[in-house]
This record gives sequence, structure tokens and C-alpha cells, in this order.
Amino acid sequence: MLVLMVSFTACLKDNVTIRTYHYTDEEYRTITQDLSLPKDLIDYRVELPRHMRDLGMIPPNISNVKATLGRVLFYDKKLSANNTVSCESCHRQNLAFSDDVDFSEGFNSQKTLRNSLALGSVANFESSYGSANNFAQARAFFFWDERAHSISQQSLLTIEDDIEMGMDLNELVTKLSQEDYYRILFRKVYGDENINANRISEALQEFVNSMLSVDSKFDEGMDRRLNVFQGFNNFSNQENIGKQLFLDNCGVCHGNDMSRNSETIANNGLDAVYTDLGVGAITGRSFDDGKFKIPFLRNIALTGPYMHDGRFETLYDVIDHYSSGIQMSENLDFRLRDPSNSSEPLKMNFTDEEKQALVAFLETLTDNTFLTAEKFGDPFN
Ligand code: HEC
Ligand code: HEC
Repeated sequence: MLVLMVSFTACLKDNVTIRTYHYTDEEYRTITQDLSLPKDLIDYRVELPRHMRDLGMIPPNISNVKATLGRVLFYDKKLSANNTVSCESCHRQNLAFSDDVDFSEGFNSQKTLRNSLALGSVANFESSYGSANNFAQARAFFFWDERAHSISQQSLLTIEDDIEMGMDLNELVTKLSQEDYYRILFRKVYGDENINANRISEALQEFVNSMLSVDSKFDEGMDRRLNVFQGFNNFSNQENIGKQLFLDNCGVCHGNDMSRNSETIANNGLDAVYTDLGVGAITGRSFDDGKFKIPFLRNIALTGPYMHDGRFETLYDVIDHYSSGIQMSENLDFRLRDPSNSSEPLKMNFTDEEKQALVAFLETLTDNTFLTAEKFGDPFN
């Protein structure tokens, strides 16, 4: 009798469960005219792997509704003056959100002044920097010359940029207000249908901040060993040799563990005479001339051509530069100078096998999960 009663109430319970979705039927009919989004919210929250948690890194606190709105904005060509260019035009998912040209084409077919930066990396996690846990840690800013201090600021600069998207922000608000799907998506985030530049850039920032790339062969090795200085048992011999070469020669700037940079800007000896002043043009200080953001190297095998001006086609070209091509100049980083004669550039003089090992190691930073994750893909029909 008791068993019967229990199963009877269980049954009743099942019958009264009402499935509620994020969008009402009517809202869903409207947004799916333009967008292919699931009826329920996608989870954009970020969970860091063990090796990063152990470092005390704090993941950004992502709002799923805001990141969903940000994703639609990121892929929307309406963000450019003549509806030809979206953020994705220069930041493509299969290329770790960079592109494959030295300079990218903006809305008017004019070329950008610098090489597009990859977005798929924790370098972009604003909240990972300057937290109470990592007080001494340098805070990374955005763009090659670090002129933007947040992704939200960077987004507005990009939208208004004469070469990139050429959009007046007031016009943008008017344009987006005409789309029914935006009225719904903004209401879901903010409780009302007001669209303004702040909300647009905040949502873009939320989406970019959710782009976590931590599922590479390197991460697997880190999570098993938790110590980058030990050999990884999921690595080939060659990859482990490359890792050691990287730790000896490169990690001091690019970060040993691919989680945080120990340094944010440097001059890495590309030119004896600076043609692009980089950070110096922003700060007006001559000791910043020729210095650029030290890029994160996650997914680096896919983000060529390399350097702020895309001068190197392949990773071999990059390694040849460090091996024997570093140029002396006033602001050349001290770690790239000959230790016995600081007015001469360092020559790392890698052998061919060492160059191959370094490239093999850099290829372990590719994260296919990230490159194909649907939640970061184009939501438009
Ligand atoms: C026409 C090509 C183009 C478009 C469109 C474009 N970007 Fe970029 N993006 C670039 C280039 C080039 C850089 C590097 C520019 C520089 O440093 O001066 C960059 C840099 C960035 C950075 C800095 C990354 C870092 O590590 O410092 C972020 C973030 C970014 N873009 C996000 C966006 C977003 C969001 C949009 C859409 C609102 C967008 N981009 C649209 C080309 C583009
Ligand atoms: C003194 C600091 C420093 C050291 C040491 C250093 N780099 Fe760099 N690296 C930089 C800076 C700064 C840039 C960006 C320079 C620019 O574009 O003007 C860069 C750029 C790169 C890029 C291109 C990234 C991109 O997105 O285009 C790669 C790849 C790279 N470095 C790999 C290495 C390797 C491999 C080593 C060791 C052999 C190394 N780096 C050592 C500072 C350093």
C-alpha cells in the first residue's frame, strides 16, 4: 500500500512539472526569424582547470543572458557603417578569433594598421588581473599598444574606428532599436528595451570574457603534473624538449604556464629603427617607443601571420627571429641582449632540431574544443 502511494504521488508530481523556457513562445518565434538560438539559455560561465585554480586565478563572473546578447552583437554586421563587417570578420573562431592576413580589411576595404589579435585566451580575462590574490601581478590591457583599459572600451573604439567599422554610436543605437530580436535580447538582460552604447559594449565584453581556451594538450599535461618544469607524460619527447627550450628562453615574457603573463609590454628586437612607436605613441614616453603588448601564445599555431604588423608568415620565421635576427635598439629588452655585452643583441642560435622542438611545443597549445564550440559560433540563420 505504502509503495503504491509513493509511486502514485511520484507520478502526480511528474504530471504537474511544467517546463519553462528562457523565451516565451512568442519571443522565440520572433528571435528565430533571424537567429538560431536554443530555447534555453546557453551556459557561458567559466570554470578554470585545476592548474589555474591552484594559481589562485579568479574566473570572470559571466552572466549567461548578457553573453548571449554579446554573441549576437559580435556576429552582427549592422555594427558597421555599411553593414559589411562584424567583429567576426577580423576575429574568426576557427582561427582562435584572429584572422590570417597581415592587416585586416575594414568596412571600406581600407586596411587596419596592425595585425588582428586572437581573442581566445585568458589574457582577456579582466577579472584575472589585479585581484587581491595576485597583488603583484601586472595587469594586461588591450590592443598591441595597450591603449584600451577594458574590452568594453576597446569595443567602442573599434566600432567608431574610421577604418574598422566606421559607425557613429547614436546611429548604431537607432539601427539596432529597429530589430525585434534586439528588443527582446536587451529586455532579457536589462529588464527594459533601452539600447545604448554602454549596454552594447558591456555585452560584447561579457561574450569576449567568456571565451575560455583551456582544453589543449598543454593543459592536459599541466593538469596531470601541476608543475610546468616537469616532463609531461602526455607529450612526445620532442614536445618536452620544446617545452624546456620555451621555459629557458621565452617564458620569462610570455609566461611559463600560459595562464598569466609575467610582463605585459616589451621590445623584442624586431627593428633597429622603430617605424611604429607602439606603446610610446600612447604614453609619450621615449622609453616606451617600439614596445608592444606581449601576446598570449594559446592557439598560436593558428593565428599567423605574426607580430603587430604580421611580418612573419610561420612559427619557424618567428623562431629564426629569436635565434639570430634580434635587432639592437635603445629599448631592446635586457633579456634579449647578450649577457656579456649588453650593447649587442642576444643570439639564441637554436639548432634545426631545437627549432622543430619549439614549434612542436607551440602546437600543443591548440585547443580544438574552443575552436569548434557552438556557443561561440555564428548565431545568425
Ligand atoms: C576590421 C577588422 C576588425 C574588426 C571589425 C574588429 N576588430 Fe578587434 N582587432 C582588430 C585588430 C587589427 C586588432 C589589433 C589592433 C591594435 O592593437 O591596434 C584588434 C584587437 C582587438 C582586441 C584586443 C585584444 C587584446 O588582446 O588586446 C579585442 C578584445 C577585440 N579586437 C575585439 C573586437 C570586438 C569585440 C569587435 C567588434 C565590436 C572587433 N574586435 C572588431 C581588428 C578588428
Ligand atoms: C623580452 C620579452 C620576450 C621574450 C624573451 C620572447 N618574446 Fe615573443 N614576443 C614578445 C613581444 C613584445 C612580442 C610582440 C612584438 C610585436 O609584435 O611588436 C612577441 C611576439 C611573439 C610571437 C607572435 C605572437 C603573435 O600573436 O603574433 C610569438 C609566436 C613569440 N613571440 C614567441 C616567442 C618565443 C618562441 C620566444 C622564445 C624563443 C619568445 N617569444 C621570447 C616578447 C618576448
